[in-house]
Amino acid sequence: MLNQEQIVYLNGEFLPLSQAKVSVLDRGFLFGDGVYEVIPVYGGSPLRLAEHLQRLENSLSGIRMVPPLDRQQWVLIFNRLIHGVDDQSIYLQVTRGVGTKRDHAFPLGIAPTVFAMCTPIAPIPASGVKAITVPDIRWQWCHVKAITLLANVLQRQQAVDEGCAEAILLRDGYAMEGAASNLFAVVDGVLLTPPKGNDILPGITRDLVVELAQANTMKFEERGITVDELRRAEEVWLTSSTREVLPVVELDGRKVCDGVVGPVWARMNGLYQALKEELRKGHSVFNIRELLDS
Ligand code: PDD
Repeated sequence: MLNQEQIVYLNGEFLPLSQAKVSVLDRGFLFGDGVYEVIPVYGGSPLRLAEHLQRLENSLSGIRMVPPLDRQQWVLIFNRLIHGVDDQSIYLQVTRGVGTKRDHAFPLGIAPTVFAMCTPIAPIPASGVKAITVPDIRWQWCHVKAITLLANVLQRQQAVDEGCAEAILLRDGYAMEGAASNLFAVVDGVLLTPPKGNDILPGITRDLVVELAQANTMKFEERGITVDELRRAEEVWLTSSTREVLPVVELDGRKVCDGVVGPVWARMNGLYQALKEELRKGHSVFNIRELLDS
């Protein structure tokens, strides 16, 4: 049917987007008290679903919540939301739920609010993007995928205001990650990415790129990238579930190397696109048994 309204999931129901409503006393609305996931879907199959659900469980435990649904239940919801075979992402948000008044401390015995929807993924600009660097003003638990994203929102908006696609966050002389992406740089021929810790989000795309680099015997090191290294890097990339492996060709108004996408990126992007193609063909990582056993 033409112009059919998007169906979303909210607290056990599948309903048109315009009818999905939450209370103003929801703690997600009042405090940003919740976590989320963004899972890419190619050819109807989620990429690295088990890893995304594991990170969701970690984020929930990080904010002292228990998963409101089990893995099989998540899969059933996603199967109903995934629409067609075009590239899309599942957005999943769990908040602590609706209290009876505004109080920072957790109310007792409330049910979490669970919301999920699918959104199309736009193709990445293969000629690369511009980025800026900004101070990392975020909190100290960046490994938790919290919906409390005010710092990231301000950083990303600053990038947009300056005609750029992303802000790269600097802390104590190191480049950490993007406002909504992980960071890779090729420095002196070696592909670098910062190690996982509380100061960055453990990106699922990041892990995949690391695996691809190792499996294809690329020169790779997991270590901090200094601001100086970032500025003289041969290549800079950002990775995320919706932006895949995105080359940065201009940083703070200066060209990255020659100002065109680099050969290491071209190779990695080829590997990443091939993996997506496998999913599209139905050689699926979306194997429920595997997922439930993991
Ligand atoms: N953001 N770092 C931050 C701060 C992020 O917000 C994201 C993703 C990533 C990349 O993680 P992954 O590869 O698992 O998508 C790194 C999502 C896409 C978002 O907020 O929309």
